[in-house]
Amino acid sequence: MSEYDLVVRGGQVVTNSEVFNADIGVSGGKISAIGLNLTGTRTIDAQGMLVLPGGVDTHCHIEQLQEGGGADEESWTTGSTSCLVGGTTSVVTFSTQFKGKGILEPLAEYHRRAKSAMVDYSFHQIITDASDAVIWEQIPQIVAQGVRSLKVFLTYDALSLDDRAYLRVLAAARRAGAFVTVHCENYEAIGWMTEALLASGRTAPKYHAWSRPRMIEREATHRAIALAELVDQPIQIFHVSCSEVAAEIAAARHRGLKVWGETCPQYFTLTADHMDRPGFEGAKFMCSPAPRDTASQEALWDDIRRGTLDVISSDHSGWCYDGTRGKKVNGADANFRDIPNGVPGLAARLPIIFSEGVAKGRIDLPLFARLIAGNPAKLFGLEGKGAIAPGYDADLVIWDPTRKTTLTNAHMQQAIDYTPYEGQEVTGWPVTTIRRGEVAMQDGKVQAEPGSGRFLPRGPYDLIKPTGNLPNGFDASAFA
Ligand code: URP
Ligand code: ZN
Ligand code: ZN
Repeated sequence: MSEYDLVVRGGQVVTNSEVFNADIGVSGGKISAIGLNLTGTRTIDAQGMLVLPGGVDTHCHIEQLQEGGGADEESWTTGSTSCLVGGTTSVVTFSTQFKGKGILEPLAEYHRRAKSAMVDYSFHQIITDASDAVIWEQIPQIVAQGVRSLKVFLTYDALSLDDRAYLRVLAAARRAGAFVTVHCENYEAIGWMTEALLASGRTAPKYHAWSRPRMIEREATHRAIALAELVDQPIQIFHVSCSEVAAEIAAARHRGLKVWGETCPQYFTLTADHMDRPGFEGAKFMCSPAPRDTASQEALWDDIRRGTLDVISSDHSGWCYDGTRGKKVNGADANFRDIPNGVPGLAARLPIIFSEGVAKGRIDLPLFARLIAGNPAKLFGLEGKGAIAPGYDADLVIWDPTRKTTLTNAHMQQAIDYTPYEGQEVTGWPVTTIRRGEVAMQDGKVQAEPGSGRFLPRGPYDLIKPTGNLPNGFDASAFA
């Protein structure tokens, strides 16, 4: 008689701490056993393959609402397809607030739209307007509903918070037991630099990088950390582009602060030179913070090995290159200030990091598993996700470690009409994606049903509790 619903047989299992040959027994969508000679009603042969934890992408923009109406071109259907094709089984996407409005209604709309998801999902709530109602009433409500992380932007006209508003969000998060993620770039410095570049006739996509050099990211990161220290509120710094910024995080951790750092595949593969392509082509590579140079890429791997940066997310923020809604929304000759920021990368994340990291000998397999699944799941309180261990959801990827692929946009199976990684050769590829014990993708074909993804409510957890170290022992967050 079969012991389990499903057995993944004979693969090299990669956990967050070791690699060994074993079968994995799955029952009721969960991992029940890891051992030898397990028997299942169904068996999947993983001989010669790695078995990885399903990818957890805690920073990606899917079907995000736009201020003028409508939503991102990457819908839940196309976005989940792309995730599964690339070996990702859980995501944390965003619910936005528009200035002058609340957060409850948009969040309900995000829940409605996510009903077609094929991956499991949660949301970060973006706060762009720290009104009394949002800070004192609505943030506690959404946290009680399981949306336990907030994102704040220290730049962008429509999104940025000044220092006072940022402090109010940190204090609200501390009171509610939520985590805060921060986009760190200095708004005023970018505005001033942009004005000067445009006035001097420097308008092409490559000047996007000139408008926001690394000290602009470093300064905002330093400030974001100092203010979080004032409130004693744990934070994660999003999309770290270079080591100078990572050094701010390392220094904070050295002082005992709860500060974490995330980076993304684009900062290991793209440079500012990509934006210096003929005509408008450079727009395809524009994201913020801007990609730096090849020396920065190598230095970021040091930060990964040191553990200063411990999550690699996609920051998938897809804008089509052609058409009138994406990169060319303000025309095919728009100046860099008027081109939407962001690059797509849901499906490319695991192949790029495996190829650049593991196949090139920069990181080992357990570190890879932690970066793309274990650490993000822990940091964001995604219970039962991010590990191959009994009791965890059976989210698994059967991975061919030697397969070579030259990336094209067809591999991405996304709504976005280009990939910034077109033509890049990668070693290692997801062959089968299993989500809660069901084969959701096989050989590039998605088999999951729309609507089979589940909302992941997040309760309180110790990792994001404040340290208790407050200046003068005074908890200002109880009052303001
Ligand atoms: O350029 C980027 N990163 N766009 C997406 C929005 C954000 O800042 O995360
Ligand atoms: Zn950001
Ligand atoms: Zn983002």
